[in-house]
Amino acid sequence: MSQENNVPVLTIDGPGGAGKGTVCQLVAKKLGWHLLDSGALYRLTALAAEKHGVALDNEESVAVLAKHLDVQFLPQDEGLMQTILEGEDVSLDIRTEHIAGHASRVAALPAVREALLSRQRDFAQEPGLVADGRDMGTVVFTHAPCKIYLTASAEERAKRRLLQLKEKGLEGDVKQILSEIIQRDERDMSREVAPLRPAKDALVVESTNMSIEQVLDVVMTELGR
Ligand code: C5P
Repeated sequence: MSQENNVPVLTIDGPGGAGKGTVCQLVAKKLGWHLLDSGALYRLTALAAEKHGVALDNEESVAVLAKHLDVQFLPQDEGLMQTILEGEDVSLDIRTEHIAGHASRVAALPAVREALLSRQRDFAQEPGLVADGRDMGTVVFTHAPCKIYLTASAEERAKRRLLQLKEKGLEGDVKQILSEIIQRDERDMSREVAPLRPAKDALVVESTNMSIEQVLDVVMTELGR
């Protein structure tokens, strides 16, 4: 954990589609730091539940799956990550809106969040970590020296999400994505454990009218680089 081993940690939290993933990949590459995509762990838990026929509201069983996730993250070119679950390449399967919705349901279960905590903290290794998620600055790495909360309007985030899906060869409808984004925001912000909100010491970046390069500049300046 950052507070125990003094590894520098940059946390970037915020709602889905705000561009956190892209910015985190770029910063990690620039600095040569490790990258934690914590959303992938919730998506993988949801996918594992589906594969094993475990109901999403069966908190105890979903938490057991989360604790024992057999997963490998294999870095690819251009900051992409190949994700292997139980020996199977699920890099695309975990990116659908269907799994995103299921991920936000399992993410509301306290035992699941607890089960994933130490796995996430283990990512903090020298020379540093860029942590992407919803509660990186508020729960997982509370002592991180640099925290960003990246957001944008729901409409802009839906557009960005659609573009991302298209780049991966996946289909999407902007109206449907928008309604799913609004539902997911509502669920992530209103849950009792680790609700989505900026840490008190986070810099809030409203990126609706900003390019990725501009966001990257703000983050690097905040990091003092
Ligand atoms: O970031 P991503 O869209 O991949 O996250 C999928 C879902 O996982 C989010 O909607 C949220 O419910 C959950 N999540 C979370 N805490 C995190 C990361 C993701 O609750 N740190």
